[in-house]
Amino acid sequence: MKVMVTGGAGFIGSHLVDTLLQRGHALSVLDDFSTGIVANLHSALRSGATLFRADVRESVEVSHAVRTFEPAVIFHLAAQANVRTSVTDPGLDARTNVLGTINVLEAARAADAAVINVSTGGAIYGDTDIVPTPETVEALPAAPYGQSKYCAERYVGLYGRLHGVRAATARFANVYGPRQDPRGEAGVIAIYCGLLEDRKRPVVYGTGRQTRDYVYVGDVVAGLLALLDHPEARGEYNIGTGRESSVLDIVEALRPHARGDFAPDFADARPGEIERSCLDVTRARETLGWTAEVELTKGLEHTMAWARAKRGSVDPAPELAPAA
Ligand SMILES: NC(=O)c1ccc[n+]([C@@H]2O[C@H](COP(=O)([O-])OP(=O)(O)OC[C@H]3O[C@@H](n4cnc5c(N)ncnc54)[C@H](O)[C@@H]3O)[C@@H](O)[C@H]2O)c1
Repeated sequence: MKVMVTGGAGFIGSHLVDTLLQRGHALSVLDDFSTGIVANLHSALRSGATLFRADVRESVEVSHAVRTFEPAVIFHLAAQANVRTSVTDPGLDARTNVLGTINVLEAARAADAAVINVSTGGAIYGDTDIVPTPETVEALPAAPYGQSKYCAERYVGLYGRLHGVRAATARFANVYGPRQDPRGEAGVIAIYCGLLEDRKRPVVYGTGRQTRDYVYVGDVVAGLLALLDHPEARGEYNIGTGRESSVLDIVEALRPHARGDFAPDFADARPGEIERSCLDVTRARETLGWTAEVELTKGLEHTMAWARAKRGSVDPAPELAPAA
């Protein structure tokens, strides 16, 4: 099948690209390389993937790429994915995440392609008392990033109703794994792995008891493939582990990998940070037959091994990311 991945040069997108190629799909990547890097695509380009250097905010560029490649399915991951940037520049965030998604949907409509959209569970639900949180809980984002991703999801639904575009949305929890940029949405594991390699101690903001649902990148790729295998899927699907881990749990889990002192330094809590975030993944399990399989300790081992190999300028990620 011909498949396009927007944001395919990024952390998650590049793992998806590698796995789709392993499955024998004809593949193209659309990316503007604002946060993605060509190195993430080295093996994909060697395997014959087509690259469109294009900006999702530019409808002409998106429609040109889609018309040229004629994908049957578009995975839409290209996004402004940094929460702090969304607060300082909400216009950029909205242009990329809302207008960018509309441009992808318009191009998909014209080419009769299906869309598998990627959104965020971690940033959409806000501070809710219902944890783990199912898809039915009202979205109350705490930052422009969650708001723009939520708005994009609504357009995905609208294009289904208005134009019959076949589309579904995956709402990811906090994704971690090889190739993650520490500046991203769920950077704490990437940041701590880097500090650990530098023999520095982790900084914990607040009590460290705030929780997140950390899901390994190989598992979210498997979730996206489950959506590909269920073309009848519509609406939103939480993709996480359903398990909460605190920041202090992460520090403890990484401690065995440390070569020096890895005791946390505590700093003031950051304003606006939510206390608990964890996704109820019942819908994905029951309707897609998907569950996260990589235990946190195993995922952290893979991530640490990658961080160490990267120091030696080797990119071992394709071998370390479990094929879905
Ligand atoms: N990392 C997480 O924990 C997490 C959690 C929930 C949802 N998500 C979503 O997953 C997707 C991928 O995130 P990621 O963590 O891999 O981030 P990333 O920054 O590594 O990847 C985003 C990719 O999109 C590209 N991009 C950005 N703006 C673009 C534009 N205007 N035109 C074309 N390409 C553009 C970047 O160059 C990059 O390759 C995003 O949609 C993000 O919102 C990520």
